[in-house]
Amino acid sequence: MAAAANRRIRKAVFPVAGLGTRFLPATKTVPKEMLPIIDKPLIQYAVDEAIEAGCDTLVFITNRYKHAVADYFDKAYELEQKLERSGKQELLELVRNVLPSGVRAIFVTQHEALGLGHAVLCAKPVIGDEPFAVLLPDDLIWTRKGVSGALKQMADVAQSADASVIAVQDVAPEKTGSYGIVATEGFNGRTGRITAMVEKPDPAEAPSTLAVVGRYVLSPRIFELLEATTPGAGGEIQLTDAISALLREQVLAYRFQGTRFDCGTHIGLIEATIRYALDHEKLSDPARETMTRALAEMGVIDLD
Ligand code: G1P
Repeated sequence: MAAAANRRIRKAVFPVAGLGTRFLPATKTVPKEMLPIIDKPLIQYAVDEAIEAGCDTLVFITNRYKHAVADYFDKAYELEQKLERSGKQELLELVRNVLPSGVRAIFVTQHEALGLGHAVLCAKPVIGDEPFAVLLPDDLIWTRKGVSGALKQMADVAQSADASVIAVQDVAPEKTGSYGIVATEGFNGRTGRITAMVEKPDPAEAPSTLAVVGRYVLSPRIFELLEATTPGAGGEIQLTDAISALLREQVLAYRFQGTRFDCGTHIGLIEATIRYALDHEKLSDPARETMTRALAEMGVIDLD
């Protein structure tokens, strides 16, 4: 096991080069990572989670259609000046804190869409020889107030166990074909050692119903394994296949505290919007009223 794995993670990789065809026509010009939940784009939720976990270097794996992501994290001088001059301090802070001071964003181009494993490999020159995180912004993980974000939970486990850590959740048996699925030993309901990992197996072949969610804390050895990985499921270079090869080292499955919304689907985006609205300081009451009224008007519930 690389001695480097016992360090705190500082770098986080965000693969954002996907086409987002599910959300066409919106994604014709707006990258799916920029779709908002209330007033923050999806990517910001993932970035905030990484920063909370202690990361100060954010590596975005992007492509030529994703300028909006880089623009979003760039400093907006004119806007900031305007807000400052008009005394809109709260808004100014919001805009500035998109990327808090001390945190840097690095953009790496993935020239060809060869799969998630390939996207992560593109980060190799920036990561070097230290453990790092990967966050898939489509997977939005909501946690209750007072509970650490999913990546922080994982970073703590990774550091104390000196291991790579993969986030998992239970899925219905018929859904295994949409996820990486892990087999574990000694799973105690929260963590267990991963003994096998399969990308998108048919339910009949799935080793369990514990599905990989888009949060990973990985040993840097993953890069040499990715370099040796040939196209797998869907003809793509799969991160799952390289992690399978990493299993000689300690790799833990971690069932995080929190609720994951699959914002790569329409219903996931709707669910997330509802949850964040109901949890929102100012919007909670009006959101509840609006939802109740809509359900009543549509005949789903009877208010009398
Ligand atoms: C990717 C991974 C898969 C994981 C999933 C989580 O698949 O390849 O192992 O379970 O993310 O969201 P994708 O959804 O990008 O096809």
